[in-house]
Amino acid sequence: MLPANTPTEIPFDVDAIRDQFPSLAETDNGIARIHFDNPAGTQVPTRVVERMSECLLHGNANIGGFFKTSELAGALVDEARSAMADFFNAPSTDEVIFGQNMTSLTLQLSRSIGRHLKTGDEIVLSRMDHDANVEPWLLLARDHKLEIRWLPFDTDSFEFDLSTLDDILSERTRLVCVGGASNLTGTINDVKSICAKARDVGAWSYIDAVQSAPHIATDVQDLGCDFLVCSAYKFFGPHQGILWGRREVLEQLDPYKVRPAPAELPWCFEPGTQSHEGLVGTGAAVDYFAEIGAALAGSGAGTRREQIVAAFEQLFEYEKSLAAQLIVGLDDIPGITVQGITAPEALNRRVPTVSFTHSDHRPEAIAEALARRNIFVWNGHNYGLEPAKALGLLESGGVLRVGIVHYNTGDEIDTTLNALEDILS
Ligand SMILES: Cc1ncc(COP(=O)(O)O)c(C=O)c1O
Repeated sequence: MLPANTPTEIPFDVDAIRDQFPSLAETDNGIARIHFDNPAGTQVPTRVVERMSECLLHGNANIGGFFKTSELAGALVDEARSAMADFFNAPSTDEVIFGQNMTSLTLQLSRSIGRHLKTGDEIVLSRMDHDANVEPWLLLARDHKLEIRWLPFDTDSFEFDLSTLDDILSERTRLVCVGGASNLTGTINDVKSICAKARDVGAWSYIDAVQSAPHIATDVQDLGCDFLVCSAYKFFGPHQGILWGRREVLEQLDPYKVRPAPAELPWCFEPGTQSHEGLVGTGAAVDYFAEIGAALAGSGAGTRREQIVAAFEQLFEYEKSLAAQLIVGLDDIPGITVQGITAPEALNRRVPTVSFTHSDHRPEAIAEALARRNIFVWNGHNYGLEPAKALGLLESGGVLRVGIVHYNTGDEIDTTLNALEDILS
């Protein structure tokens, strides 16, 4: 059994954090709601909603006009782009591209990337990825007669063996697509090494950071990737997708755009009118992290980027302690198998998204029973079709997924473990 890792020395006030999220205080017939549905979408702090309403109430106009509302909309959108550049540690705001969500951005950008590829070129896809970083490339391969090479993962360790990637990569590889963290197993992948290997054979890398972005600081320069995409609604913002692309690479691509739209970065990759309020709310979510980081750093608060990094470091420590508490408790319940990393010394290599199966109860039945106790979780493959298939779980209903973030508490985990013991006994 794992040693309990109770969060005794949290350097931030979890209650003060929770107070910023009105939805966390909601009850039904006196029963508190427990949000462990976070990998599918997090709750939103008041500041995000306030900034979005400022945009809608005072700056509701298209950008580029001579009048007040248009000027304000432009300034708010510029600020959101600059916040996301800090979030990504992007060298420039021009490389930050907004879109409806991660899936739409990927489908859209894959069209432009496809124009660079020719019959027989190879794309590496992973068996651990969410379908949003799989099917757009399978469709592209179909349209351009490209070859797909699959990167498997070890179904015992829930990690890639990167020596396999060496065997798969060749001078024909043009693109390597992989996730920062799995939405099913929770594994954090060694994206930096994967990108270096891709670069060594002259391939571009396309990173799905949707599940890593809420938990660990994203640094596109350190990762050495060519594209990285995520979704603000997974990190306490509104429904909004954001893509970072390396300038030299973006400049080689043909954007799919209409004729009057600007030809310059980043707008050439942002067809139509954006959800300005979504962009602004996304910037506010970044500032939410920065404010936590600034409070942690005290008087030497530093740049917004430094504040963001400081926040993630501490929040992730806390999340890891909650994940350890959950894993220890699940380990004590007969019939449960955690479908992911469980070793205490390896919790750095997973996000606190803990999926499990039970020998006698289907995930759907467990999720329904938990929902009756106001504990919100997801069940199924959660669009992680490839990992669910690789783990042999597709036919049996996938997994039951408990997704922790930093506004969750040890008490919520205890309540959930008690409920599970009861339901599964
Ligand atoms: C790892 C991962 N990638 C991509 C997506 C799709 O994101 P979006 O809803 O923004 O298209 C999800 C959604 O759950 C996800 O978990």
